[in-house]
Amino acid sequence: KAAVTLRAQLLAWYDQNARDLPWRVGPADRAAGVRADPYRVWLSEVMLQQTTVPHATPYFLKFTARWPTVSDLAAAPDEEVMAAWAGLGYYARARNLLACARAVANDHGGVFPDTEAGLLKLPGLGPYTAAAVAAIAFDRPANVVDGNVERVVSRLFAVEQPLPAAKPELKRLAAALVAEDRPGDWAQALMDLGATICRPKAPLCDRCPLADHCAAFATGTPDAWPRKTAK
Ligand code: ADE
Repeated sequence: KAAVTLRAQLLAWYDQNARDLPWRVGPADRAAGVRADPYRVWLSEVMLQQTTVPHATPYFLKFTARWPTVSDLAAAPDEEVMAAWAGLGYYARARNLLACARAVANDHGGVFPDTEAGLLKLPGLGPYTAAAVAAIAFDRPANVVDGNVERVVSRLFAVEQPLPAAKPELKRLAAALVAEDRPGDWAQALMDLGATICRPKAPLCDRCPLADHCAAFATGTPDAWPRKTAK
């Protein structure tokens, strides 16, 4: 089936089923074209590379209450940020977080660059985060591929190559679905679909807006994707 109908079906599903998460804008604002705060998007994406939405959410609320802007975070003493990060794990991420916040505050007047390329030049901000912030905060047509998106795409196209070798192919397939229309909602719709419907085990295909496009669903055993190499 055509990519246009697939896109329209997923975006329509997102309009009805987007998760209410503290770094997102609400449905009314979203419909009015209001974008999320880049600082909050960036902070949430860094935390979510580390852990799940339920685990990250209280940390996100604590950080944004204490440091409401990137310049507030940049001005915080290292030890305070490290202590607030405790429990999220992997302290290198907290160090990168601070390095990035300080670059935005000191070299960019506290304003995040609004393109994927500009974001990528920041210290401590990698390709995934650059794509996610460009799409979600600035509505740029960036290809945002995390583990959820890899699983969704591997099922849609029944990709036979196992992970992790399939990653480049999954990224190409995901890129072909990105368009100029609503790229920020598209990225988040794929993530929400992966988290709530296209789950690793027992996917809820009877509620999936893309079931009629899904090659894995058509086989009757969608949870057999993504293929994995035998351990
Ligand atoms: N996981 C990583 N980023 C996310 C986002 N923006 N929304 C939901 N889940 C996510």
